[in-house]
Amino acid sequence: MRVELRSGNDGWPAVEPLNALVYPPEVLASIVWREVEWSHADKRVLVYLGERLIAAVGLYLRDGTHDGAGVRIGGIGGVMTHPEHRGRGFASAGMRRAEDFFAERGDVDFGLLVCEPKNIGFYARLGWRVFPGELVVEQHGRRGAFTVTTPMVRAVRRPAPSGGTIDLCGLPW
Ligand SMILES: CC(C)(COP(=O)(O)OP(=O)(O)OC[C@H]1O[C@@H](n2cnc3c(N)ncnc32)[C@H](O)[C@@H]1OP(=O)(O)O)[C@@H](O)C(=O)NCCC(=O)NCCS
Repeated sequence: MRVELRSGNDGWPAVEPLNALVYPPEVLASIVWREVEWSHADKRVLVYLGERLIAAVGLYLRDGTHDGAGVRIGGIGGVMTHPEHRGRGFASAGMRRAEDFFAERGDVDFGLLVCEPKNIGFYARLGWRVFPGELVVEQHGRRGAFTVTTPMVRAVRRPAPSGGTIDLCGLPW
């Protein structure tokens, strides 16, 4: 297994075929977040087996607010593993590299991701906790509560917020 960190744009050509495999049209048609307007990843973690891309994790850096105070948020999104290679630790390895990246920067306050309820267990094993407060995002130019999937948070240089309102001051990821 080889874990690489790339810029978001450089990594996309590698991730695109994997994304198409994980989300074919028939799967995408029934996904609750298919209409959401997402932001583009700033960085990508790519996990290879030999020359083959097996898993990917998108990383986002965002200046948002928590209860009105400025915070720098380390975002995770677009986590995916090739369907034939699941349950072997590839996504977990990618997540650990992403968490290390946020910790090494020194300016990230906490991590945030949103996921479908079926994936909460996967992230909980990695130390993420459901955020019970409100998440505010922009969608199609308007601010509002994000209720499509479940926000989860993780401590980085500060403890993860345990309530209140997190405003991403932009699109979600
Ligand atoms: C979710 C996903 C990324 C996990 O990838 P993966 O490479 O199989 O994950 P790992 O092998 O690192 O999983 C580590 C552990 O978590 C477990 N796990 C995986 N999904 C889980 C879930 N939904 N709930 C609880 N545990 C889960 C695995 O069984 C494994 O346990 P083990 O170490 O005891 O064997 C993968 O199933 C996937 O690509 N799903 C489709 C896309 C998707 O839903 N992405 C998440 C978007 S939020």
